[in-house]
Amino acid sequence: MTEFCKIMSQSENENEIEVADGVFVRRRTFLIGGLSSTLLGGLMSSIPLRKVFAQSDTFSYEQFLSLANPLAKSLVGDTSTEGQDQYLHSLAAIAARIKTVPEPVAWNDSTQSFKPGTDIGFTPGGDGFTVLHWRMAPNTQIRLHRHDYGNVVTIGLGGDARVENYEIADNDQDYIPGKSFRVRKTVDQQLTPGNINLVSLDRNYIHGFTAGPDGAHGLDITTRIRPKPDHGTPYLSVSSNAADEARQIYEAEWEE
Ligand SMILES: [Fe+2]
Repeated sequence: MTEFCKIMSQSENENEIEVADGVFVRRRTFLIGGLSSTLLGGLMSSIPLRKVFAQSDTFSYEQFLSLANPLAKSLVGDTSTEGQDQYLHSLAAIAARIKTVPEPVAWNDSTQSFKPGTDIGFTPGGDGFTVLHWRMAPNTQIRLHRHDYGNVVTIGLGGDARVENYEIADNDQDYIPGKSFRVRKTVDQQLTPGNINLVSLDRNYIHGFTAGPDGAHGLDITTRIRPKPDHGTPYLSVSSNAADEARQIYEAEWEE
């Protein structure tokens, strides 16, 4: 039995839990399905306890929606940095358990790549959020782009893709193409099935994808929390060499 399973095997009424053979700690947080009550936040208040899942549970898309829709409604109103964190982490906790997703009715070419091979399809059912299914042919790219009105939970469903996230390191920039400024790389991740990548409007808000040799597909669960701006999607070009390797600072500019 793993240490984690030992924790999960304890009664809710016990004050001490065994985290390793003969090693006990005093319970500070009520654990459900491997997730603390702090993380679950609004989920706890909006979903009956009997429906909270066990560690091994996986969800169909319909089961995911039955949990995600009330959860999103209860948490989406707090658009502070911390509120977005709670929203995204809570939604991600159940999105990570999705194993089957209906095929989108239609696939459309993504406008976010330099060449064909990246497609987007809409999967209905989200209440307050949009579920987009993406698929990438081997070695294709979705360009680095900024999210400035909708946050995102990305989940890998198949294959693998490198996901990079950046934030602006200087004072926030207007979208002036060709004007140099500095960004910080905050995430450099291999997204494989079940992995999650989060974009809030305050963290990791520029992201791009590079599919591996077998291609990749997954979901983007996007939630608009600000009005859509007049400008189109801002795309970013980043220098290949870091200006400050230790801090992962790079020179960058917005593309035309
Ligand atoms: Fe995006």
